[in-house]
Amino acid sequence: MQTLTLPRPDDWHLHLRDGAMLKAVLPETARHFARAIIMPNLVPPVVTLDDAVAYRDRIMSALPDGMGFEPLMTLYLTEGTDPGDVERAAASGLVKAVKLYPAGATTNSHSGVRDLDKVMPVLEVMARIGLPLCTHGEVTTPEVDIFDREAVFIDTVLDPLRRRLPELRVVMEHITTEEGAAYAAEGGDSLAATITTHHLIINRNHILAGGIRPHYYCLPVAKREKHRLALRKAATSGSPRFFLGTDSAPHIDALKEHACGCAGCFTATNTLSLLAHVFEEEGALDRLEGFASRHGPAFYGLPVNAGSVTLEKRAEPCVWPVKIQSEAGPVTVFNPGFPVHWHVVT
Ligand code: DOR
Ligand code: ZN
Repeated sequence: MQTLTLPRPDDWHLHLRDGAMLKAVLPETARHFARAIIMPNLVPPVVTLDDAVAYRDRIMSALPDGMGFEPLMTLYLTEGTDPGDVERAAASGLVKAVKLYPAGATTNSHSGVRDLDKVMPVLEVMARIGLPLCTHGEVTTPEVDIFDREAVFIDTVLDPLRRRLPELRVVMEHITTEEGAAYAAEGGDSLAATITTHHLIINRNHILAGGIRPHYYCLPVAKREKHRLALRKAATSGSPRFFLGTDSAPHIDALKEHACGCAGCFTATNTLSLLAHVFEEEGALDRLEGFASRHGPAFYGLPVNAGSVTLEKRAEPCVWPVKIQSEAGPVTVFNPGFPVHWHVVT
């Protein structure tokens, strides 16, 4: 029997929500992951250090007894963000990054940034103190085709920003294109990119061919096949610039299966098994450890986790719940569409 043991992994991009949903989805992540970078796009968003401290307390209260988990908090960047508060947030040790949502780019992003000039004082503080900026890297201009929004963001927003503030540490979150992978690969020590599990598995045909499949719709939307292959190459390359950020993003079925369905794939439950499957397909099982457990802590200046997880390849396929039940409603677990044999055993 084949087994694989990794230092306990981290998820460098996760949506936990709040209230009933938080309670339902948190164990799905905490079961396998030691830490996660927690996205701040609540309603209202997590903008200040005080907001982050309160949200962290709610997360810790929702954690079932006996489970260990450390939420790494982020602040939602707005045009009114106070640079002093960001500096205090970083000094507190609880806040590990600031998140840039271009206004209108995705779920609950309307309080995001319209004009980067307005947040330059905050970004200058972050560059000075080494606090990373996590970017949702899509332009929102209606004229730009949705499949081109990431590449245009790199050329018109990210690259000019990095030239203006070369010291700023940036994480390109959930990259979906070969342009994104190429840019991250060559950006030097101050740049990294997260890749989701689902973008290694689906391309845009999975969403649109043979009927519309809302549970595969997320943002940035999955692109054509050549991009999925470029992401697989980047994730399995062994380069420390790339690490796991699942972007596991729960929405109740009623809001996914809707005339205007929400963006998000819920992958917390089966991510590790799916990644083992993908890395094995790419002949790179030995590189999963770097992607899931080592490159992220190295970028964020944190220790690798002390514990471990073990996966076992068995003849019988994994069986996951089709849905996670929450008091807010059911959440559909990402279905890869093929059998997966890597079971997480500890
Ligand atoms: O698919 C997504 N879902 N992309 C995002 O950027 C946000 C997320 C969410 O919060 O649902
Ligand atoms: Zn996200």
